[in-house]
Amino acid sequence: MMDINLKQRGRSSIDFAADLTGSAGSLAKSVNTRLSRLSLVDDIDARDKQVKEFLGDSNPNWFSRQISKWCSVTHGVITGDAFAEIQPELESQFNELRKGPTQIEANPNCEYPDYWTGVDFHRTTGGWVRENQGFIHGELIHPLYVGKNYPGNIFQQRRDVLGELGGRKFERILEMGTSSGHYTLQLAAEYPQAAITGIELGLPMLEQAQRFANERGLSWRLIQAPAEKTGLPDASFDLVTSYILLHELPASANKAVFEEAYRLLEPGGAILMADVRPFRDMTRLEEWQAIDMTKRGGEPYWVEAASLDLAKLASNIGFVNAKSYGLGERGYPWVTIAYKPE
Ligand SMILES: C[S@@+](CC[C@H](N)C(=O)[O-])C[C@H]1O[C@@H](n2cnc3c(N)ncnc32)[C@H](O)[C@@H]1O
Repeated sequence: MMDINLKQRGRSSIDFAADLTGSAGSLAKSVNTRLSRLSLVDDIDARDKQVKEFLGDSNPNWFSRQISKWCSVTHGVITGDAFAEIQPELESQFNELRKGPTQIEANPNCEYPDYWTGVDFHRTTGGWVRENQGFIHGELIHPLYVGKNYPGNIFQQRRDVLGELGGRKFERILEMGTSSGHYTLQLAAEYPQAAITGIELGLPMLEQAQRFANERGLSWRLIQAPAEKTGLPDASFDLVTSYILLHELPASANKAVFEEAYRLLEPGGAILMADVRPFRDMTRLEEWQAIDMTKRGGEPYWVEAASLDLAKLASNIGFVNAKSYGLGERGYPWVTIAYKPE
């Protein structure tokens, strides 16, 4: 594993942002208790107005929104600064981890979709293409910031979804939206015998996935390409899977990704797409909260994606035995499983 020693300034800044996010969560809970007394109307715009009028200038609401807005904008800056402080010490490890069984198939002519280009997802300056974003995301933001506040264990959740595949062994796995490789690691642990291919648009993200793999001596094929147009041969996988990719895509791209997954699967092959809960599984209050959060959190397509019925989408494309459901009490992650007919 990499030797990562954050400077005091960087570490305490990240801790501060994580703790502040936690405090916004506590305030939001008290706001929710007040809101649960309201009988919310159906229309989403009227509901937004209703909630805002009801809360008025209640302090907990104002504070929790300001804090969460500040943390959304600032967490990427703070973690980027923390990285910059230790970057010189990391370079030799970066160089070493470029060597090994996992190599990146970079594509300088990669066709970046319009919906992805220039978007600062999660309000992180530079989105998924900023230099060293893979390290910042995979080694700092996930474990030290998101992991501290997100309900449940964000790494175990990636493993849990694989338990929904009924113990079947897969040999040729394609992961779409590999990013910094946290789900890929769980795939490798669950299916040690499988050949794993990861598709991802952002080269800096693949650089971190490569480091995770080479640290462990794992051999993954990492390809820079759009998930909806991978360029890989028909029927070359028995599992096509993604973890929290789909809510970052508009509805049309979700459809294109499912179609590509169908093409890439051999007969009898499976898809497992794990993502956010759809609105139809939510109470009116939860739906209002989710929509409100997407406005602050740099999630331009969440509303479109969470309005889809993914099992229906899969069935329309030709998949069979399609099902979509949430895991655990919180209904998260939301999994969609379906099969290409034999
Ligand atoms: C939220 S992250 C995925 C997280 C990752 N699967 C994990 O478990 O940590 C979404 C990733 O999907 C990538 N992405 C978005 N649209 C894509 C597309 N059309 N094709 C390939 N990758 C895409 C983004 O660049 C980003 O790295």
